[in-house]
Amino acid sequence: MPVIIVIDDEHRQRDILQTILQDEGYEVHTAPSAEEGIKLIKTLNPDVVITDLKMGGMSGMQLIDAIPDNIVKPAIIIMTAYGTISSAVEAMKKGAFDYLTKPLEKDSIVLTVKNAIERMSLLKENIRLQDALFGKFKIEGIVGESKGMKAVMEVVKKVTPTSVTVLIQGESGTGKELIARAIHYNSPRRTCPFTAINCAAIPENLIESELFGYEPGAFTGATHRKIGIFESTDRGTLFLDEIGDLPPLMQTKILRVLQDKEVRRIGGKESIKVDVRIIAATNKDLEKEVLKGSFREDLYYRLKVVTVNIPPLRDRKEDIPLLVRFFIDKYNNEFGKRIKGVSSSSIKALMDYHWPGNIRQLESVIERAVLMSDTDIINLDDIKSELRFPLEKGFIDISIPDEGINFEELERELIKKAMAKANNVAAKAARLLGMSYKTFWYRLEKFNISSKEDIISSKKDKN
Ligand SMILES: Nc1ncnc2c1ncn2[C@@H]1O[C@H](COP(=O)(O)OP(=O)(O)OP(=O)(O)O)[C@@H](O)[C@H]1O
Ligand SMILES: [Mg+2]
Repeated sequence: MPVIIVIDDEHRQRDILQTILQDEGYEVHTAPSAEEGIKLIKTLNPDVVITDLKMGGMSGMQLIDAIPDNIVKPAIIIMTAYGTISSAVEAMKKGAFDYLTKPLEKDSIVLTVKNAIERMSLLKENIRLQDALFGKFKIEGIVGESKGMKAVMEVVKKVTPTSVTVLIQGESGTGKELIARAIHYNSPRRTCPFTAINCAAIPENLIESELFGYEPGAFTGATHRKIGIFESTDRGTLFLDEIGDLPPLMQTKILRVLQDKEVRRIGGKESIKVDVRIIAATNKDLEKEVLKGSFREDLYYRLKVVTVNIPPLRDRKEDIPLLVRFFIDKYNNEFGKRIKGVSSSSIKALMDYHWPGNIRQLESVIERAVLMSDTDIINLDDIKSELRFPLEKGFIDISIPDEGINFEELERELIKKAMAKANNVAAKAARLLGMSYKTFWYRLEKFNISSKEDIISSKKDKN
């Protein structure tokens, strides 16, 4: 039942309102002063407060300011005499919902209160939905008990209530975006936008107009005004993913926003104040990029006020069983399955694997296994094919530099290494690379590498 509090220093007025509204089916409480009213508001969390404007002691206007921030603010209806409508308007500017003029009329009281109650139920539904959404990003939703993850969470908890710039570093799939969202949705900025942009994915010529917006006529094709991301994210958080790929000119522009806290649209004359928290992420070693001269040193120092280094999954294998449990529950829910757990040989395989794609890869392995499994336990067969390059077979961690690699060169190197290890016996080298003798032989010829067999066979040829 909606709860209403009526505040007026005239008891006749209070009684009339109480009777009318109780007849409408509301729960009505009354208070003879704003001071008493505040006490009731704090304890009853009412939907609507109807208050007189002028009372002995605190006024209705002061009451609006005095309602504490930690409760859902009730809809406030101000009662005022004809002569003082201007102060009722002022009260509405302060956030009052509506006003009633004295002498009060039953019909308008009932209608105004009904509207106020409707508005409050919408507001409360909104808050409930937002809480459900934010719950998804609760820091508690990040799984990990390892030393590495505990260290990450310590930093995250410290920076969350602030607006400090954060740089998140970690390999692909380690949870950089998850952490960025957790920071935003647990911070005081949570009701304002979280915008994520991938600096590597947007073409260089579009980044500036996306971030800063433009005025009509700024360039050919700019027919209307466009508001940039910095402006639309005002009071929120901007997640700059893969910041290491930001082109030099944009590095300079972003540094300026960090320093001046204002932006200018392309072709615009005025600067616009923006209050945007920056969280940047990279899977590159930014310090190296600075040394190489491809990332501005001053921007690097601005960004790394606080750095969060998320360790790769292979360095925190003790988190694997927890994550597996977490993802089984998640996908049981999603697919309506009832997988109980994983077999001991599977968990061993999962723990032995080196997870080059980190948690994202683990998640997709479990997702697939939950979907495909015919029993209530995930067996080795359900996951085996997903764990490519199992460690037992000898795994080489080849990282691809930014310039890319020459595949033929790499192939030649591997063949030469295998030959050296096999004392130039091609049959043995082929086995080391898991190739058929024929396939291997073809490659030896292609790269013009000689083998012991080669010498024997060419001797034979001559015969
Ligand atoms: N600690 C964790 N607990 C639970 N889920 C996690 C955790 N870390 C990552 N994930 C999940 O793994 C997936 C990949 O995470 P995310 O997208 O945040 O990684 P990323 O570091 O941004 O990767 P990339 O560098 O490839 O963009 C997401 O589905 C995320 O929810
Ligand atoms: Mg990411």
